[in-house]
Amino acid sequence: MRNLFSEQSEQNVTINQLKEMPLPGKVLMVTPDHFDILYEINPHMAGNIGTVDKERAQKQWEQLAEGFTAAGLEVTTLQGTEGFPDMVFCANQSLPCYDGESCKVIMGKMHAEQRRGEVAQIEGWWNSQDCEVLHLSDAVVTFEGMGDAIWHPGRRLLWGAYGYRTSREAYAEISGLLDVPVALLELTDPRFYHLDTCFCTLNEKSVMIYPGAFSERSLELIDSLFEQVIRLNEHEAADLFAGNATCPDGKHVLIQQGCDVVNEQLRDAGFEVMELDTSEFLKSGGSVFCMKLLYW
Ligand code: ARG
Repeated sequence: MRNLFSEQSEQNVTINQLKEMPLPGKVLMVTPDHFDILYEINPHMAGNIGTVDKERAQKQWEQLAEGFTAAGLEVTTLQGTEGFPDMVFCANQSLPCYDGESCKVIMGKMHAEQRRGEVAQIEGWWNSQDCEVLHLSDAVVTFEGMGDAIWHPGRRLLWGAYGYRTSREAYAEISGLLDVPVALLELTDPRFYHLDTCFCTLNEKSVMIYPGAFSERSLELIDSLFEQVIRLNEHEAADLFAGNATCPDGKHVLIQQGCDVVNEQLRDAGFEVMELDTSEFLKSGGSVFCMKLLYW
């Protein structure tokens, strides 16, 4: 059954009423062999064509993989494909879902032509996994996977954003295919073109967001479903991509180095901060969260 809501008044669930969903324990990472900036499809890439320091990027990627392992995740790597400089951002091509028994994955449809071929590469990998691969119909133009669709920690509720990369219609189909409610969020600032650039779930009760990236009613919806909403300042959100942090276990927050203001808030709230340098990837508009795909 399709179940979508985009404002507090339409919301027909409380978090406690939602079915439980285990936290994902695995991550897929795509090697940065072919990572580069060869085109501009988001404002962060502007002026950065050809500026990637490949050696540094490789080191940063390896340290990130070590960070995920240290945070208790099982890391699997897939070789990047030549001609796809953004494939390293492997949160974007698919959306996995697990109900405690079986896995389903919905393949994406990339907004930018330059990235469309990445989906088949990631689908090839999914075909080797024990997971049912699903596709959206032709009526859905774009869907950028976990870049725009993020699971509520521990519950069967999907937060789905539209505005820049994913078409809003995608979520009606996704809600039906996975039989999950979807809380729709509207993005309003092009610097925060994916949900994962401005919305980082921490645990069932807490989320970290950049409020300037959302419409008023989306902010109200977030406030109504999370008890604690940590708000990022503009510098740490836009320049350091603090909103692209990830907290896979409800405890460890892996985040771009230097987000001092929010790190203090996170520590005060009982989280363990793990700082990582993703500066070469920030040039492309990505950081910790989108450089991996969480799955079960
Ligand atoms: N250059 C990539 C793009 O614009 C970066 C993607 C980063 N992914 C993310 N989910 N924020 O598509």
